[in-house]
Amino acid sequence: MRVLVTGSDGYIGAVLAPALQAAGHEVTGIDAGFHSACQFAAVPSSPVQTFWKDTRDIEPEDLEGFQAVVHLAELSNDPLGEIDPALTEAINLRATARLAQLARRTGVRRFLYFSSCSVYGKASDELCTESSPAHPQTAYARAKCLSEGAILSLAGPDFCPVVLRNATVFGPSPRMRLDLVLNNLAALAFLEGEIRMVSDGSPWRPLIHIRDLCRAAQLALEAPDEIVRGEVFNCGDTSANYRIREIAVCVQEAFPSCRVVPGAPNPDQRSYRVSFEKIRSRLGFQARYTASEGAAELREIFERLPLQPIHLRDSLFFRCRRIRQLIAEGRLDEQLRWTARDAAEWQPAGASAASPDQR
Ligand SMILES: NC(=O)c1ccc[n+]([C@@H]2O[C@H](COP(=O)([O-])OP(=O)(O)OC[C@H]3O[C@@H](n4cnc5c(N)ncnc54)[C@H](O)[C@@H]3O)[C@@H](O)[C@H]2O)c1
Repeated sequence: MRVLVTGSDGYIGAVLAPALQAAGHEVTGIDAGFHSACQFAAVPSSPVQTFWKDTRDIEPEDLEGFQAVVHLAELSNDPLGEIDPALTEAINLRATARLAQLARRTGVRRFLYFSSCSVYGKASDELCTESSPAHPQTAYARAKCLSEGAILSLAGPDFCPVVLRNATVFGPSPRMRLDLVLNNLAALAFLEGEIRMVSDGSPWRPLIHIRDLCRAAQLALEAPDEIVRGEVFNCGDTSANYRIREIAVCVQEAFPSCRVVPGAPNPDQRSYRVSFEKIRSRLGFQARYTASEGAAELREIFERLPLQPIHLRDSLFFRCRRIRQLIAEGRLDEQLRWTARDAAEWQPAGASAASPDQR
């Protein structure tokens, strides 16, 4: 299948796009390049051709010839969405809805959207299913809910939209993130010898390993239309619902000399336990990696690179800090457009060797 992956240069996209290509698909990427510099060390260039383009600027001709779009390119977590809720709406809702409309109009058949279990927001201890009410607590989660609706409303005989509501991801990527709970606690354990939670550890979070998520996305991409058309799938594994303090204990198993330090109760109200029975029964998806295995894998990688104290202090692996820094340095404007200096060197209509953020 000819597949366009948006956000192919982000944390998940940098693993997913090559994985889909290795599975035999003909993959092209599109990305604005906000996080292209976010790597521990030099990484081999991706086998996937990436076009440096903002999703707000996508035109019908960018989509011609593709059978599927896998849409990841958004401001990608709750704190980042709070930088400017209007911007979150522009990128995560309006550009996403427009992309889905253009895809349908240009004959793309499958549209796979990366939503988030964050839409459940503040839920009870009961397992949330796909039909549970959403309680979004942030601009990010509200935009995910609205985008899901806009995309699914386009379903028809020739257009097959599918939504994955992903659990929180962990594990390594060439475009690393240390602002995700397990990755963050593992980095703190490795560098500071303490697994410091920012809450009392009571909130629930379902987790999924990045390679498991890529396998689930491939299943959703390749499944027959009649199984997935217009469907929402929680994407994770019911056995991988953890309280934050349980995630800390999994990290401690990989770093036995480190102690777990609870934080104060957090005003962040997000807590959700999720049922992943639908994706298991309809698509046959089950996770292969546990949180403990993910923490042990990260320890091995952090030792090998090695991860440095600066990586916790600076902005490279923290999405919110990175965007704020690019704005403060005048490289991005307030609308998250590359400013003249960067844009002048950019080739928006073509694939270039270096993204704006690597210059
Ligand atoms: N990482 C998780 O735990 C998780 C969980 C649930 C859902 N998701 C969703 O998965 C998707 C990917 O997440 P991620 O962790 O890889 O995030 P990320 O921030 O690492 O990657 C997002 C990529 O999209 C690009 N991008 C952002 N806005 C863009 C725009 N307007 N035009 C073009 N490119 C743009 C960025 O440059 C970046 O490379 C997001 O939609 C996110 O909401 C992630």
